[in-house]
Amino acid sequence: MAPIRSVIAGVGSYLPARLVTNAELALALDTSDEWITERTGIRQRHLAADDEKTSDLAIAAARKALAVAGRSAVDMIVLATATPDNTFPATATRVQAALGMTSGAAFDLQAVCSGFIYGLATADNFIRSGQIKSALVIGAETFSRILDWKDRGTCVLFGDGAGAVVLEARDGQVNGEGRGILSTHLHSDGRYYDLLQVDGGPSSSRSVGVLKMEGREVFRHAVVNLAAVVHEALAANNLTADAVDWVVPHQANKRILEGTARKLNLPQDRFVITVDRHANTSAASIPLALAEAVGDGRIKPGQLVLLEAMGGGFTWGAALVRM
Ligand code: ACO
Repeated sequence: MAPIRSVIAGVGSYLPARLVTNAELALALDTSDEWITERTGIRQRHLAADDEKTSDLAIAAARKALAVAGRSAVDMIVLATATPDNTFPATATRVQAALGMTSGAAFDLQAVCSGFIYGLATADNFIRSGQIKSALVIGAETFSRILDWKDRGTCVLFGDGAGAVVLEARDGQVNGEGRGILSTHLHSDGRYYDLLQVDGGPSSSRSVGVLKMEGREVFRHAVVNLAAVVHEALAANNLTADAVDWVVPHQANKRILEGTARKLNLPQDRFVITVDRHANTSAASIPLALAEAVGDGRIKPGQLVLLEAMGGGFTWGAALVRM
């Protein structure tokens, strides 16, 4: 019998309406469009309205993904976020209720910018083991709420948004030829906890805190770790980089993407890039980019897609998917 695989049956995304350009940030901050564009590739970001929460973004993205998949319910909702509505309950349960689902399991997962890959890996393993038959994996963030808007070194880098995929259990085939998630690869190394963190939390400060980052150190580790995990994913499937049709990377910074492309010896036109328009939306960035490239027809059924991310912790990971 062919092994069970998790097939992506629908993708959806949502961006808040408010669009903020670099020039607008430069009105209140000692920065410039030129500096931000040159160092990061970011030209603009979407920011949630005051009354828009992470759950609102997640619900909008999830509705679209469910509509594409032609489903009204799933067995499991995994919401990857570092910016939940409340400390508890899980924002995923609010999403579940809004979608009209009253059965199955819904929970949040926290791996910061790697959250979507961690969520995909979690749902995929539940599907492969036969415990569930369908899942919604969502990445949704309102990083605008945890930024220090006076710190030009960090606040220019991030945006808000959400993306979602519906996974369905289908019969797969062996040797990387079947459709669906071929493999997932997760890593973390907590020795780097302090290099990218929010300086507050319920059990440390009883407050939310703001994002702090050692940018250069993060950059250095990102390129090395991402290249390593991509090689690991390819090797696990007996594939080489030229078999990859599209790389959908976490959108942190254009220079990290260029560095990773060089290290992998892959042309940049095989990378789906949204960082220029979305900035870094943490766990939402991969499903946002995936939804865009599937929606505009760049990513086609049967193509091999590589997803990769790195984030606070540090955490990092990759997934290979036959669409
Ligand atoms: N506008 C103008 N000047 C700025 C700004 C800004 N927005 N931010 C920093 N500067 C200044 C600094 O104050 C510094 O000035 P000084 O030399 O007078 O002290 C100068 O620019 C250089 O600062 P660096 O921090 O050394 O600049 P760097 O070239 O390293 O670029 C950046 C900073 C863009 C953050 C870079 O380190 C980077 O891309 N790091 C990766 C981090 C990242 O993308 N994190 C996202 C989260 S992690 C993830 O998702 C993987």
